[in-house]
Amino acid sequence: MDRPIRDQVVVITGASSGIGRCTALHLAGLGASVVLTARRADALEQVVREIRAGGGRAIAVPGEVTRADDLRAVADAAVQRFGRIDTWVNNAGVYLQGRVQDISLDEYRRVLDVNFVGLVNGTQRALEVMLPRGEGVIVQVSSVAAKRGVPFTSPYSASKAAVAAFASALRAELLGSGVRLSVLYPPSVDTPIYDSARGKLGVAPKPAAPIYDPLSAARAIEHLARTGERERYFGWAGPLAALDAASPALGDWLLHRVAGFTYSDAPAHADDNLDSPARTIPPAVRAGWARPGWRGLTVRESVRVLPVESMLAAAALGFVCARAARRLRALV
Ligand SMILES: NC(=O)c1ccc[n+]([C@@H]2O[C@H](COP(=O)([O-])OP(=O)(O)OC[C@H]3O[C@@H](n4cnc5c(N)ncnc54)[C@H](OP(=O)(O)O)[C@@H]3O)[C@@H](O)[C@H]2O)c1
Repeated sequence: MDRPIRDQVVVITGASSGIGRCTALHLAGLGASVVLTARRADALEQVVREIRAGGGRAIAVPGEVTRADDLRAVADAAVQRFGRIDTWVNNAGVYLQGRVQDISLDEYRRVLDVNFVGLVNGTQRALEVMLPRGEGVIVQVSSVAAKRGVPFTSPYSASKAAVAAFASALRAELLGSGVRLSVLYPPSVDTPIYDSARGKLGVAPKPAAPIYDPLSAARAIEHLARTGERERYFGWAGPLAALDAASPALGDWLLHRVAGFTYSDAPAHADDNLDSPARTIPPAVRAGWARPGWRGLTVRESVRVLPVESMLAAAALGFVCARAARRLRALV
């Protein structure tokens, strides 16, 4: 059954930045009434102003996703202002990069608390409103890292895998209730999450190419809000998950080889948003990662991460070009 977006009231967590901010603008542009939450009140107000300036409907209710009272206030405000909640998007998340032995237990707890318990909190608040009406869709923003753990992101990968397992357990509980549960598994997306991540490798985290625009994620969320489908992939997330399911050993080998694409050679940032909002990272939809090269992939980075393979590829290219030039000369 298709649920038109223009008639929907949609709550979005993590709406101050990146995918959440993009989704808020996108859905409001399609006519949805949107209720935005995140910790940075000023950043949320910017989004509300932009939506209202375009004739859309939006309110902001700042909050911390790990606190039940904060998200209950979000749900209450949505019902008070717009009468109901049709879709709740659990999107807020944080990222941390480091070796397992260098990440403290408190850091593991915090990543799990925001990315998993915060999402459970949002789900409970959504169910309180949706179950009595017998209708609604809850969209959980996971990651391809749920399907295939990525080196140096163990707390993040674990938190996203927890989201997937939580969703399948709850989906079975909800059968017949009228409330549906969808999970999105995005690949690398060009957002500020990498700038505001806690980097413990000594160098700054970055997304691995190919990097997709946040609008691809916003459109995927729109699709799930309309259809209530159980899951959605876009970009290289589906093929990577399929490759790993077919041969986990090949997945281990491949990710070990290409892990260098997930960090840069620049020093790690001093600021991060793990325990409290970042002070110096501007709240924006995009961070500019996808701009250089092909979807963020550059020759310089390929040489840094895979020097031998890059040399072999350059030699193969040179060989092919030389043969083509010889054939061309023979023809003229
Ligand atoms: N970008 C990617 O490559 C990628 C790939 C796969 C999955 N994802 C997932 O997509 C979701 C959105 O990520 P993004 O890339 O758009 O990141 P982002 O630009 O950093 O946005 C994250 C949002 O979460 C909010 N947030 C963080 N901690 C919070 C807390 N404790 N309480 C309330 N809000 C909190 C942030 O706002 P405040 O700081 O203002 O609170 C911000 O609005 C995340 O779940 C992420 O894991 C992203």
